[in-house]
Amino acid sequence: MDAIHIIKKKRDGGELSRSEIQYLIEGYTVQRIPDYQMSAFLMAAQLRGMNLNETISLTRYMLNSGSILRFPGAPGPIVDKHSTGGVGDKVSLILAPLVASCGVCVPMVSGRSLGHTGGTLDKLESIPGVRTNLNIADVTRQICDFGVAMIGASKEIAPADQQIYSLRDVTANVDFIPFITASILSKKLAEGLDGLVLDVKSGCGAFMKTRENARQLAEALVEVGEHFDMPTIAWLTDMNAPLGRAIGNWLEVEEAIECLRGEGPNDIMDLSLKLSGEMIALGGLADSPEEGQEMAQNAINSGRGLDRLAKIVETQGGNPAMIHDPSLRMRSIEPYTVTVPLDVSGYVTEIDALAIGEITNSMGGGRIVIEDKIDDEAGIVLHLRPGERAIPGLPLVSLFTRKTDQIEVFENRVINAYKFSSKKSKKPQILLERLTVEGWESNS
Ligand code: URA
Repeated sequence: MDAIHIIKKKRDGGELSRSEIQYLIEGYTVQRIPDYQMSAFLMAAQLRGMNLNETISLTRYMLNSGSILRFPGAPGPIVDKHSTGGVGDKVSLILAPLVASCGVCVPMVSGRSLGHTGGTLDKLESIPGVRTNLNIADVTRQICDFGVAMIGASKEIAPADQQIYSLRDVTANVDFIPFITASILSKKLAEGLDGLVLDVKSGCGAFMKTRENARQLAEALVEVGEHFDMPTIAWLTDMNAPLGRAIGNWLEVEEAIECLRGEGPNDIMDLSLKLSGEMIALGGLADSPEEGQEMAQNAINSGRGLDRLAKIVETQGGNPAMIHDPSLRMRSIEPYTVTVPLDVSGYVTEIDALAIGEITNSMGGGRIVIEDKIDDEAGIVLHLRPGERAIPGLPLVSLFTRKTDQIEVFENRVINAYKFSSKKSKKPQILLERLTVEGWESNS
């Protein structure tokens, strides 16, 4: 067997065997197969397609490139959530401590922001001192002590995914369903989960722009997850407008804290509670997702969820007092208020999530390439969201940036990201459809 024959077979539309995929992934992980051959394979596969069996093999060998975590002394079922990425999505910061305070163990492996989408690791690290590069022993200890750890992928967990993801990113091979499926599931299977809840996003601010593509991704994820005996549920959710009001690392941590106090924006509260309920039920600690959701709501009401976030922060190197009083983190940027234009009257109908993510990046709040340093304080607070009344001259958004010489450019771009109408429109529905092994269920 050699790489050239495997690339040729895929180029000509053939189906690769399990051992051919094993040869490629193992060879690439130990650097026997060079980047240029892997790039050629990736593009051939994207153009010719990969079927379910090939996607399963890809997932298997990416998973086997590292260790699989095991938690023999864990105090509860091991369940995680994964989102395919969006703008203003701080759900992981809310849900991981929340469900852990209800008895679910969450060894959450998250990613960094890239392109217009945010990343949980960057948000968490905007809390001074917090580390996410824990080793397996640290994660195991945290899971056994208090049920939750929030970390990044490492050389120990699905390293093939890290290597291949970097190559996909620079060879136009990201948005291909079999690669996304194998990438997400190899990391999640490495967590040794008893169940996985997926938030598959569709819309202008998501990887999958159309609902049809997002449905296909959800179907591939559930089918492959279940193939590996990991019970998997997916929610299809809307990512046309940003989630919540805050976009930018520290601003999103502040909003996550508001949510854990029960005071967050409705869309992010509803989504966090829905996915928490699913995780609690999937772990067998509630008889139904609805009962799980009630347990999560009680953990918010009692403050247990917020206390658990403070515990994560303390154990991973930060100051837990900052979670109970976010004003302890001194702000060094003054917000600039953009007001509703004088020629507008009526209601907000849409906010372009992709544009808002890109403006946040330009203001210093995101990453264009992986080496970029993020300004944790940079970002946007949306005072008006879809469905809300826009009164000329009143605040529309606050911009947090050190690039004050470009403030007018940012202001114009933000105003262009909004659409207004004189007619009141409905608030967008975030939770669209639910997929289990039994099939799709609509949320209407
Ligand atoms: N998230 C991942 O972890 N991998 C992908 O390929 C896309 C989104």
